[in-house]
Amino acid sequence: MAVKFLDLHKQYLSIKTEIDNAIFSVIQKSAFVGGEEVEAFEKEFSSFIGEGVEALGVGNGTDALEIAIRALELPKDSVVLVPANTFVASAEAVINNGLKVKFVDCGEDYSLDIVDLKDKITSDVRALVVVHLYGIPANMEEILALAREYDLRVIEDCAQAHGARFNGQRVGSFGDVATFSFYPGKNLGAYGDGGMLVSKDSSLLEHCREIAHHGGLEKYQHNIVGRNSRLDAMQAAILRVKLRYLEVWNARRKEVAQMYFEGLSNRDFILPKVANNRECVWHLFVVRCVNRAAVIELLNQARIQIGLHYPIALPNTPAFCKKPYVIQSQCKNASAWQDKILSLPMGEHLENDEVKDIIEVLRC
Ligand SMILES: Cc1ncc(COP(=O)(O)O)c(C=O)c1O
Repeated sequence: MAVKFLDLHKQYLSIKTEIDNAIFSVIQKSAFVGGEEVEAFEKEFSSFIGEGVEALGVGNGTDALEIAIRALELPKDSVVLVPANTFVASAEAVINNGLKVKFVDCGEDYSLDIVDLKDKITSDVRALVVVHLYGIPANMEEILALAREYDLRVIEDCAQAHGARFNGQRVGSFGDVATFSFYPGKNLGAYGDGGMLVSKDSSLLEHCREIAHHGGLEKYQHNIVGRNSRLDAMQAAILRVKLRYLEVWNARRKEVAQMYFEGLSNRDFILPKVANNRECVWHLFVVRCVNRAAVIELLNQARIQIGLHYPIALPNTPAFCKKPYVIQSQCKNASAWQDKILSLPMGEHLENDEVKDIIEVLRC
């Protein structure tokens, strides 16, 4: 028995003809950067997210975050709240814009803990990054209420949550601006790097476009000092094919999650908690273990691949611990859970028998 954490080759084989045709057609047209594939994907992705939303393809999810934060033009020395447990890019983007980070602890939904979030809002806090981590939508009702009360800008990092819904509304349509990653292993992944910015605010998105396209909206127009960040046509063509399968693949992830819930309840695991008004897309299925080392050993012996997301909470990493650009703050759950969290195999590639095997090993 060997169970893969992720199987991109199997996914490719299931849609091979369409993908091969999409790639071939880009080569035939030889329009490699910008052009109709990128524009069509931007339109299709924005209508997938919701009404009134526009989208801009960029190089990757990290660029998307950096550009989004820059476009907000927050005052110098602003502090931005970022979850303590997330991928490093959510915090890097703040620092790389010359701003300060204050970490907020995670709650049972692994996103911003609402009580800690409120405690950490001070007069220098101007924005927050909310990450729909593991595909679980954050509590947008309470987060937006706090943002309104304290006049904070909201950046949604949706890198792990393509298609997730809060109160029936897709994530990416709540904040001032949202960012997506199409890193290959994501629920919607490219065959290389890719990212997207999404917003209902056309002028903000236009400013993002200016930043991403060397400071102008036309070639050789440089109104500001910008940068280069583009989604290329080959990736867009691939993503257009894969977007058509996203809902089916997300539904399969949901079935796998359901099997884990049924098979692992009443065991020594704390299973994810998803409130009824949230539709999770199960980018990852993360449990907390009493004795993680022993569980990993069992899974290794059975050749079942696992992951840790993330092995060290950001405030405890050398890049962020006791740094002048980080406002010191306690994040008890994130620090305690970094040694307990374990990501089980998750994805549409899993067969029922493989999920049953994993459950059987974990029930030993
Ligand atoms: C939560 C989160 N934010 C941002 C990113 C960065 O995306 P990318 O790898 O496309 O730069 C990732 C990707 O791993 C992520 O998981």
